[in-house]
Amino acid sequence: MERAAKKDMKEKKNLTVREVRQLPRDSSFSVLGVVSRLTRKKDRNDKPFWDIALTDGSGELEGKIWSNSNWWNLQGGERLPFDPLDEKGPNLEGATVGLQGKVAEFRDQPQYNFNDIYYVDQEKYPPHSFVRRSPLSDERMEADFRALLAELHEPLSGFLEAVFFRRGLWKEFKVWPAAVSLHHAYVGGLLEHSLSVAEGAKALADHYIAQGTPVDRELVIAGALLHDLGKLDAYSMTPVPQMTIPGNVAEHIVIGYHRFMSLAEQEGLDPKIALALGHIIVSHHGRREYGSPVLPSTPEAMIVSAADDLDFKVFFWRSQIEGLDPRHEMTDYLPLLERRLWRGVPDQSLPAAPAPGPAAGPDEELTTPGRSLTATPDEL
Ligand SMILES: [Fe+2]
Ligand SMILES: [Fe+2]
Repeated sequence: MERAAKKDMKEKKNLTVREVRQLPRDSSFSVLGVVSRLTRKKDRNDKPFWDIALTDGSGELEGKIWSNSNWWNLQGGERLPFDPLDEKGPNLEGATVGLQGKVAEFRDQPQYNFNDIYYVDQEKYPPHSFVRRSPLSDERMEADFRALLAELHEPLSGFLEAVFFRRGLWKEFKVWPAAVSLHHAYVGGLLEHSLSVAEGAKALADHYIAQGTPVDRELVIAGALLHDLGKLDAYSMTPVPQMTIPGNVAEHIVIGYHRFMSLAEQEGLDPKIALALGHIIVSHHGRREYGSPVLPSTPEAMIVSAADDLDFKVFFWRSQIEGLDPRHEMTDYLPLLERRLWRGVPDQSLPAAPAPGPAAGPDEELTTPGRSLTATPDEL
């Protein structure tokens, strides 16, 4: 068994997650990436099995490791079998592993079963090299952020300047993910999403202002940039996006409101302005069942909430359509959005979009079967 496994690992070319997703049923494959989640469970016969999620630059793959699988430790140049139940064995979460598996089918969806698990040399294959990044450059996003700040006046300009740059929040904010799955779940995702919401919300504010509605444009921009502040504590990068304990038990809306209000107090922000911004933060999910304790009660909060919802949906549409079999026009039914998504009619007047590179296509991972079927939109 051991020799066969070695031979297989050497001979089989490692595929990317994106490539594995395109394999037909019954295909065998090898894939290399970072373990973003590993959960031990028990089957009906009380035998252990594992749910595993593996991330590489091209997406995330969820699958099963059954009790008859083989676990190999390749660290240090040797290949030794190890028992995953042994606490002294290697910690696989956040580590680079090689997986060999087969594409099966479960309830009409592909299911990935892994029969050989290789804990590889972590120096040779450092986990951070498999982590996905925003397709937008750091420089571009920082320039966009500063351009938005430049549109503000006191007290909001000084407050945001103090929060992000004087207090050093920027260091984390620019690399944080916006989610652990579903949308912008990669390095720089929180900044990319916040900028997109701010630009969308600003355009909406300008439209209503032109129509004569009294909308505070600066409050909209500042609220949009701050709306997901709580994600700094709700998620971590280890090195792939993970939900923290506070994220699980308090959620980013509550955490964000608390953090914002204490920053506002420390910076001496006018309590009325602080409350208006705090209201944008707590109401931004727009529905109580999505985690907002109150619904948007001001045009500024309605605009940020709408822009946030739209940014998630457009991102989700794009990632689903990019991962869709080219022969198909529509996705499967997506309970999260309560609809199937359609490719639509391409706009002939636009130049063809460039094909996404290996790590550049936003969220191939969204097509992971099961994930989108069970998730709730608490990460918007
Ligand atoms: Fe949110
Ligand atoms: Fe958001």
